[in-house]
Amino acid sequence: MPRLLSLSRAARLVGSTRGKLQKQVQDGEIASFEGKVRLSDLHKLYPQAEVEDTAMLDRVEEIIERARFKARSRTPLPTDKQSLLARATLLGDELALAKLDLNNYAFFIHKLKSRINQLGETSPAETSEILNKLTHWIEKELPRINDNPPQPNPLLVQDTMLRLITAQIHVYPSGHEFLLEGNTTLLEAGLSAGFALNYGCSNGNCGKCKAKLVSGQVKKTRNHDYSFSEAEKHQNYILMCSHTALTDLVIEADEAGTSGDIPHQTITAKVKKLEPIDSNVGVLNLKTPRTNRLRFLAGQRANLTINGSLSAELPIASCPCDDMNLQFHVSMNDDSAFIKHLLSNLKTNDEVSIDGPSGDFILDDNASNPVILLAMNTGFAPIKSLAEHVLTLAHAENIALYWFVSEGQTHYLRNQCRAWVDAFDSLQYYEFSLAGKLSTQKTQNTLSEQLATIKQQHPALDNCHVYIAGNSEFVDQCAEFFNTEAVPRLLTEIID
Ligand code: FES
Repeated sequence: MPRLLSLSRAARLVGSTRGKLQKQVQDGEIASFEGKVRLSDLHKLYPQAEVEDTAMLDRVEEIIERARFKARSRTPLPTDKQSLLARATLLGDELALAKLDLNNYAFFIHKLKSRINQLGETSPAETSEILNKLTHWIEKELPRINDNPPQPNPLLVQDTMLRLITAQIHVYPSGHEFLLEGNTTLLEAGLSAGFALNYGCSNGNCGKCKAKLVSGQVKKTRNHDYSFSEAEKHQNYILMCSHTALTDLVIEADEAGTSGDIPHQTITAKVKKLEPIDSNVGVLNLKTPRTNRLRFLAGQRANLTINGSLSAELPIASCPCDDMNLQFHVSMNDDSAFIKHLLSNLKTNDEVSIDGPSGDFILDDNASNPVILLAMNTGFAPIKSLAEHVLTLAHAENIALYWFVSEGQTHYLRNQCRAWVDAFDSLQYYEFSLAGKLSTQKTQNTLSEQLATIKQQHPALDNCHVYIAGNSEFVDQCAEFFNTEAVPRLLTEIID
């Protein structure tokens, strides 16, 4: 049987992205069988993969680390003995089956030769001679197989290594897949891969992360207080926050598909840092308790309250894949009481109450369409969250990020954007500046010209998903432009 790989595993093996491989399948560059690709076809398409050796396995993790948008450690996680043993046992079973197949084929060849001999004895002389020649040919060729054993396919070797150090998790009914390393819980691995799995306490108490184990072996990572009903026990329910995978798994688990699937939460976080980035913008980093994190979708907002009564609704600028570390971008020239208190009184470890999330400025997680992201000034905050999420998912064929700034403003996280470009082949980043106010005809004309440039870069705009965040004048003009191009998904977010 040819070895079939899921797109996620194949992408990891050759250091590509799932979105890029998906595009290659659509373009007919590689055949797909029920969403999987053949290892031998993958090797033909990525012959260079064989020279990358074991470093290839870690390439995706390394580039994500370079992009530095996850606070979690990306040091490769060690695989414990129990997991290695379970996975080696499964590989051993596969090897035993392969040997059995080989023995069956050898036995078949033996029977074939006997049958040819039998037929030769009862056939006319001419046919008998042909059958004799065939028998001699088989006897001559068989030993040569051992003289020239086929060279092992390097990708097969790498894949076997990958199967030892990671487990692949298939989630039903969404069809999502992710890889799990070390003793990471199923919940952590799924969230890190960008999927909106259901959860609550992350601590084995609430039961919201329960999932049905359809196949494979799991191991408890902690004792949990939540107790399953007898029916749930019989149906193999587990808690994703309290189990890791010993082998590849198939699980049935709920995932949020829309903002309506995310419950409203009120949590208390602590200030990690408020960092002025330039004279206009500060970046506020908050940390939630481990057992009370904010569940949200990329691009959503949260309401922050400080000092008991001063509050503001701000876009979350970080990725839901790192739900303990929340980032917000604040305009320091805003003269609201909230900002004044933030800038003059807020200290590290001060408490901030967070209510949320809210908003529908969210990605279509399952689409592989090219993504165009447009931000103006601090409209970059929700766009950053979307960018990090779409890069984590690696579903989109390619992503183009355009950051506009008005006079006196800066591309305050330009280095972050450039790090992404270095790390992700699928991302392009462009900067634009707009002199003057967008209420003037001259500046509107400049923006029109810049939008025309963007159109030239995307000949198939009618296949792109477009997300726009900025002040209302910017959003309105951009949305009008893309509406006339009939893009299939256009979402906007006004940042005043
Ligand atoms: S998230 Fe609460 S039990 Fe797992």
